[in-house]
Order: sequence, then C-alpha cells, then structure tokens
Amino acid sequence: MFEQVEMSAALLVAESSGGHQKFHACQSPSQEKSDCKRCAIMRGMTSNSNPVESTDTLLSTGAQDGSAPSPTLYETVGGAERLRELVDRFYDLMDLEAQFVGLRALHPATLEGSRDKLYWFLSGWMGGPDHYVEQFGHPRLRARHLPFRIASTERDQWLLCMAMAMQDVALEPALQERLLESFYQTADWMRNTEG
Ligand code: HEM
Repeated sequence: MFEQVEMSAALLVAESSGGHQKFHACQSPSQEKSDCKRCAIMRGMTSNSNPVESTDTLLSTGAQDGSAPSPTLYETVGGAERLRELVDRFYDLMDLEAQFVGLRALHPATLEGSRDKLYWFLSGWMGGPDHYVEQFGHPRLRARHLPFRIASTERDQWLLCMAMAMQDVALEPALQERLLESFYQTADWMRNTEG
C-alpha cells in the first residue's frame, strides 16, 4: 500500500518543476485547456502569485450562470468530521512512522495545537468554515513557516505523510490525486532552504 502512495507522491515531485501543465496529462482537445476541469483547479491554485498568501478558498463555491452550485471541496471531502479524521491521521502517521522523524522533529512535543491549526486552516481553504482566519487573521503561511528549515526533503516528507493519510482514511482516489496536486503547490512554496 505504501509503495503505491510513495510512487504517486514521487511522481508529483518529479513532474512538478515546470508549472501546472505538468501536473497531469491534459486530455482536453483545446490547446487553451479552458474546458479542462483539472486545469481549472490548478489555475485556481496558481492565480495568485502563490497559493497560500491569499485568503481565497481552493475552489469556487457557487455557479456564476444560475445553475446549481457545485459542491465545495470541503463538502466533497465529507465535511468537518471527515476532514478532522484526515488531519488526525496525518499527525498520527507523523508521530508513528520512522520515515517522518525529520518532519516530526520540527514540530512541538505535543501535536494537539498543530492538529487544530491545520484542521482550521484546511476547513477554510477547502471552502468550508474559515476557522483559521477568524482566529488568526491572514494565513501568511510562508512567513509562519520561516522559523523552520524546509527543503525538498521536508516538503516530500510532508506530502508523503499526507498522501498516506488520505489513503488510510479512504478518500476517493480521484480526490486524493486532486488534493495532492494542490498540496504540492503549497508545500513547494513553503520551501525556504536549498536542498
Ligand atoms: C512543506 C512542508 C511543511 C513543513 C515542514 C511544515 C511544518 C510545520 C511546522 C513545524 C509547523 C508548526 C507547528 C506548530 O506550531 O504546532 C507548521 C504549522 C502549520 N502548517 Fe505546516 N509544514 C509544511 C507544509 C504545510 C502545508 C502544505 C500546509 C497547508 C496545506 C501547512 C499548514 C500549516 C498550518 C496552518 C500551520 C499553523 C500555522 C500557525 O498558525 O502557526 N503546512 N507547519
């Protein structure tokens, strides 16, 4: 099971150097990719100079043309309970798995605060209640991560840990892939050290 996750995370890392078009083989006949839903998701993530300094949510929450609004990613994940389950599994794995010892060492002795903050942040980021911004204001995530040394190794550990957590809580495979693409953008932006 882990091998499969490692492969998809490794693939993301390997394919990520050239902008969002490289994140997936777009099947759209349009050269503009304007009718491709997955390209639209990636445009949403990259429409600002970086994916995390904006307080915009990950996906549009309503239709512009009067048709039924599309579900938010928060709803697609399964709401508060399922999102909390994902975040808890993420930090459980970080705590338990030897391969994440470097990532774990950056975090405080108790992970309770980290669990809450990531859950609050992802809730708003996915189009649900914006608990993080209500309590702490603008996320400024890159600035908040500057005290920690984050190179490719830490980025990749974070992504693999999240990929394993998504698989363990049994998110739909297509949803896992879509989230991993978005997480990659954010995690890569967080790097503040060569290596
Ligand atoms: C790239 C690898 C990453 C590393 C090594 C990393 C590491 C850390 C560490 C050490 C903390 C402090 C924990 C605490 O004070 O309890 C933290 C906080 C946080 N991280 Fe990350 N992180 C990474 C990526 C991400 C990503 C991709 C996201 C969002 C999708 C994220 C969201 C957060 C949030 C919301 C906080 C709380 C910030 C605050 O208010 O202090 N992190 N991270």
